[in-house]
Amino acid sequence: MSVIESVLNETRTFPPNGTFVKQANVSGMAAYQAMCTEAEKDYKNFWAKQANHYLLWHSPFSQVLDESDPPFYKWFNDGEINISYNCLDRHLSTQPDKTAIIFESDEGEITKATYRELHQSVCQFANALKAQNIKKGDRVVIYMPMRIEAVVAMQACARIGAIHSVVFGGFSAKSLHERITDAGAVTIITADEQVRGGKHHPLKATVDEAMSMGGANSVKSIVVYQRSGSNIPFNPDRDVWWHEITQLANIDCEPEWVNAEHPLFTLYTSGSTGKPKGVQHSSAGYLLGTMVSMQWVFDYKSSDIFWCTADVGWITGHSYVAYGPLAMGATQVIFEGVPTYPNASRFWEIIQKHKVTTFYTAPTAIRSLIKLGPDLPEKHDLSSLRLLGSVGEPINPEAWMWFYEKVGQSRCPIVDTWWQTETGSHMIAPLPGAFTLKPGSCSLPLPGIQAAIVDETGQDVEQGNGGFLVIKNPFPSQIRTLWKDPERFKKVYFPEEIDQGKYYLAGDSAYRDDDGYFWIMGRIDDVLNVSGHRLGTMEIESALVANPLVAEAAVVGKPHEIKGESVIAFVVLKGQLPQAEEASKIILELREWVAQEIGPIAKPEEIRFGENLPKTRSGKIMRRLLRTLAKDEEITQDISTLENPAILEQLKKSIK
Ligand code: WTA
Repeated sequence: MSVIESVLNETRTFPPNGTFVKQANVSGMAAYQAMCTEAEKDYKNFWAKQANHYLLWHSPFSQVLDESDPPFYKWFNDGEINISYNCLDRHLSTQPDKTAIIFESDEGEITKATYRELHQSVCQFANALKAQNIKKGDRVVIYMPMRIEAVVAMQACARIGAIHSVVFGGFSAKSLHERITDAGAVTIITADEQVRGGKHHPLKATVDEAMSMGGANSVKSIVVYQRSGSNIPFNPDRDVWWHEITQLANIDCEPEWVNAEHPLFTLYTSGSTGKPKGVQHSSAGYLLGTMVSMQWVFDYKSSDIFWCTADVGWITGHSYVAYGPLAMGATQVIFEGVPTYPNASRFWEIIQKHKVTTFYTAPTAIRSLIKLGPDLPEKHDLSSLRLLGSVGEPINPEAWMWFYEKVGQSRCPIVDTWWQTETGSHMIAPLPGAFTLKPGSCSLPLPGIQAAIVDETGQDVEQGNGGFLVIKNPFPSQIRTLWKDPERFKKVYFPEEIDQGKYYLAGDSAYRDDDGYFWIMGRIDDVLNVSGHRLGTMEIESALVANPLVAEAAVVGKPHEIKGESVIAFVVLKGQLPQAEEASKIILELREWVAQEIGPIAKPEEIRFGENLPKTRSGKIMRRLLRTLAKDEEITQDISTLENPAILEQLKKSIK
């Protein structure tokens, strides 16, 4: 509740400045309200209008929304489209020589690709994939460094109607294996290595390790992009080099026209259980969401230099790197490295060098940039910036103020964008030429999005009260289902208890203030938000329990200055409670183990041992007590239902 405590006292407001309002795509509150009114009157017609305005259709749709089998909504279903055509070909006649991507490598090497060049690379790679016998509907896992080629791989899949599933390069072999087998991938696209912050990380070797775990029989080939040129394992019966297969490929590739509802991609995300969920998105509705938000929230102008710092392994890197900016015809920066290498000014140097106008990043990055050098932004020329954005977790007002004053020089509005892997694009976010900003609030829903706060039965709560954040009407960019698990999809996102499953349940709690502004309080499920990344506590617990030393484990989050939240694990070992020296050894081993099982981002910050965990008489772990213990606070909650109160002392005192 630290967020709500800090934001409750937040009264600062920042009305949009006149210069920004004048040039804004949505200028002034009345313009926003007019769009909302139009959408409220007839939201199907509203979205149909947007779909005809923004998307290029191969054959038009006649039905806007098919709601015959809720919550399996279909948008623009009988229309035919291709997403790569919408992102690339459409610009060939209007702006072929405009720079689409300015790429800066970890070492600082700069490569640019125009729309014509990007189109050609995508067509060639799409043909190469076809030559590998990849067809419409096939699943392709992409495990790549953050480079132009990652975008080319995604766009090439879209071009031939293959369904990509990008796995973040920081995930372990085990996590990768789980995703490859669940998706039933026929191909994996990877690189020899990933280079970040001067360090080389093996990608191909990790893919090999995942393959050796068995069960990935669907995989027929592995395409390897040569990033570092290091020596890597290569199996000529199965592996092919990216540069070799593209060299042979033709540069013309007719797009595969697909149904609007054809899955563009699946992306795995954490939920309340140990098994990650394969969030499945559509083609047309998804792209539409990214485009309208580029226009409304990022106030996109063709002169912009857009920079979203997210990796393509996350939804933000899908919507605001690989798809939205390209569909709008933007010039964007893609950066391979980290903010701290070779020095703490790297981000500011990139903004200065490439004259970035729109800078979209995460609160965790902002907080670490503050720590690295609060005055560093002032030492650079950041006058090109005109708009800042934040995503991934609630931004604490102090970080917001620093971002606003030091980076945006009190000139640039900040769009604090609330959305999720499942929503595909922004849902609640300021329209910067219209809204008054409040530090820490993501403000108001976009036109066409009926966000609300309800209680456990689905009734609206009174303004000012906290509750579950829901979206009441279907919207084009929403999740279509969970890959191979429609039942779980229904249960998790459209639970019967909440107004008979009519509303999309986001999994966040929130409240609205007197102006109707939304303030996100946190997750309502067992999902942690570590450095803006979603991690399921159950996932980490299952990983810990899989270690031969561990009998039982419970994981909770603890507020963290930079990461937002950090992972704290309470562990019961199979043997005796360890003594100091042995305990430190086991802690090291278990942290490494979790990194191996899931990925370094899931490593517990702290591990505490006990002979047992605090449980109710019915055997349920009392997590709220663990959360209090993790924060080293006194337990004031009622512990009368606790089976074994003595355990609290032990977990408090135990070696950290
Ligand atoms: C949280 C990232 C507050 C929220 C796009 C959500 C936020 C989860 C914000 C989704 C924000 C994201 N303010 N909280 N502006 N943006 N969140 O799927 O808890 O990685 O449910 O998508 O991040 O995380 P995901």
